[in-house]
Amino acid sequence: MLSLPPLALYIHIPWCVRKCPYCDFNSHSARQELPVQAYVAALMADLEQDLPLVWGRAVSSIFFGGGTPSLFSGSAIDQILRGVAARLTLRPALEVTLEANPGTAEFDHFSSYLDAGVNRLSLGVQSFDDGCLTRLGRIHDATQAERAFESARKAGFDNINLDLMYALPEQTCAMALSDVRRAISLAPEHISHYQMTLEPNTVFYARPPEHVPDEDAAWDMQELCQVALDEAGYHQYEVSAYARTGRQCAHNLNYWRFGDYLGIGAGAHGKLTLPAEQTILRRWKVKQPQSYLSSAATDQRIGGDEWIAPDSRPFEFMLNALRLNEGADLASFEARTGLCRDALQSAFSKAVARGWLDVTEDRFRASPLGQRFLNDLIELFLPAQA
Ligand SMILES: C[S@@+](CC[C@H](N)C(=O)[O-])C[C@H]1O[C@@H](n2cnc3c(N)ncnc32)[C@H](O)[C@@H]1O
Ligand code: SF4
Repeated sequence: MLSLPPLALYIHIPWCVRKCPYCDFNSHSARQELPVQAYVAALMADLEQDLPLVWGRAVSSIFFGGGTPSLFSGSAIDQILRGVAARLTLRPALEVTLEANPGTAEFDHFSSYLDAGVNRLSLGVQSFDDGCLTRLGRIHDATQAERAFESARKAGFDNINLDLMYALPEQTCAMALSDVRRAISLAPEHISHYQMTLEPNTVFYARPPEHVPDEDAAWDMQELCQVALDEAGYHQYEVSAYARTGRQCAHNLNYWRFGDYLGIGAGAHGKLTLPAEQTILRRWKVKQPQSYLSSAATDQRIGGDEWIAPDSRPFEFMLNALRLNEGADLASFEARTGLCRDALQSAFSKAVARGWLDVTEDRFRASPLGQRFLNDLIELFLPAQA
């Protein structure tokens, strides 16, 4: 039987100063002044369309992602958060994260974000090597990234994440390690460490840069960096996420535990459990900022719905759960997919036989070998395979 998991809220801001050549997020260069007021109004219209799906439920975290949410002023973020609080019940002391690009962060913005209710900042640093930053087309250098971090601290942020990427063009293991060491020296609460991937519909995909480390080199970097992070007190809890004790990202943990979330803003996605109908819904929103704004302004439906069919749910659940070091338990699989644990049996047998899955009592998680072949492991749960 499906039962209700926690509910989070994702808010997408779809503009950046300049599009990075590796990035496939729904982000668009801000060529002219941003239509901030129209977008705030559209977000509220969007949220109101979603409200009937979540009556009576309280929100346990909020995440402003992008694009570059730090292009919005503190007063715009304040307006959005007030609008959200007027329409939804918010749990006390909920985590509210905002992503910021060190090249856009007007440093006086930081304290106004805090005043608005943001209590966690995520800075897109990517690397502390100016050569790497140039090759990535970033709009900031390493010094600016450090200054942005220090300003955020000075403003009063006591929960900061730094995003780093590795396997960058022309990067060696020593360079990747040096990036991680420099991040550690700033003493943030959380570090996200992503392998750079070449995504379709990006400039890097169309014209791959030279000397991108291969998969084996990337794995070596990951292992080296993981040890350095662990020694410094940043414990891996998800494939790309490392945190000091008690500082894991509540919002992202909810995704990985197959929780529910509302997604508002251009191109945002939500996932909602409807126990009365025994269904799980995915709701998507129009991607192009202009179309999004005009749908909202004319009271049209801003997106559409899809249902997660029962036979796709094992894969969808595992896609998230197997990324977590803690793995998951069979009871939460049943509660969050509405399926019986028997639905996993055939894929479990194959995964255990290959040494990819550790199963103890009613818990399971990717084994060290399974982490190395995570995509192959997760594919075992595709409908045709199971
Ligand atoms: C929405 S962005 C973060 C905020 C802001 N836009 C910035 O870039 O500074 C989220 C993060 O995704 C990561 N990312 C983006 N494209 C990626 C790719 N192709 N491979 C791996 N990580 C990527 C970057 O680390 C980036 O900071
Ligand atoms: S990485 Fe960040 S700044 Fe660069 S295009 Fe993507 S969302 Fe924008």
